[in-house]
Amino acid sequence: MRKPIIAGNWKMYKKLSEASQFVEALKNKVPSAEKVDAVICAPSIFLTSLVEAAKGTDLAIGAQNMHFEVEGAYTGEVSPSQLSDIDVQYVVLGHSERREYFNETDEAVNKKAIAAFENGLTPIICCGETLEEREAGQTVAKVSSQITAAIKGLTPEQVATSVIAYEPIWAIGTGKTATAADANETCGEIRSAIAQAVNEEVAQAVRIQYGGSVKPANVVELLSMEQIDGALVGGASLDAESYLQLLEAGA
Ligand code: G3P
Repeated sequence: MRKPIIAGNWKMYKKLSEASQFVEALKNKVPSAEKVDAVICAPSIFLTSLVEAAKGTDLAIGAQNMHFEVEGAYTGEVSPSQLSDIDVQYVVLGHSERREYFNETDEAVNKKAIAAFENGLTPIICCGETLEEREAGQTVAKVSSQITAAIKGLTPEQVATSVIAYEPIWAIGTGKTATAADANETCGEIRSAIAQAVNEEVAQAVRIQYGGSVKPANVVELLSMEQIDGALVGGASLDAESYLQLLEAGA
């Protein structure tokens, strides 16, 4: 039985005051971490404040990206050890926006996944196909190769505790959601790729989220699917009430 994980990805939205108000509004309402893992992945400039604000609650804080080196002359970057030093717990890796706009490669995602575990962070590793790839019947090949590349060199235990996020690119921020059945099928294919790359036990343990226009109105159906263990949510995670509804659906 895999515990659901609902992660908000705020992307480059909110001011610090709005971020703080969000956590304040959520306090005492976050469902128990025994039932659902609740995560907010915020812009790095807010992380210190949000970790502090979320102390004593079951809300975990995550970053949206990081460098794979622990330190160095990399102007503008944030390192895995800097994140774990301030008690950040999760980090989103290989989001399609980072792959598209910042040229993030499978190889970089793999180095980051290894660095995440070396520094006590749980990676949320993203994969997903473009509309053209979907229409050309390449969805399974694309997501399987992205995930196989990302987990290369991780121990079976590390793969089992990773979180995978399947986000079809054409469903991100568009209001178009993959049907629950389609999303379920692709998440199942990702699990098979992990079984092939590692083993069946690890594949059954790893949690796979769906992402792409998830909202309170469709989350229950998505989470009811056998292969879907949570959601990575952009737009609908920006409002505390809506995020809370997503958490309740997972609890
Ligand atoms: O990482 C979450 C994301 O890309 C999905 O965004 O706004 O479609 O929920 P949205």
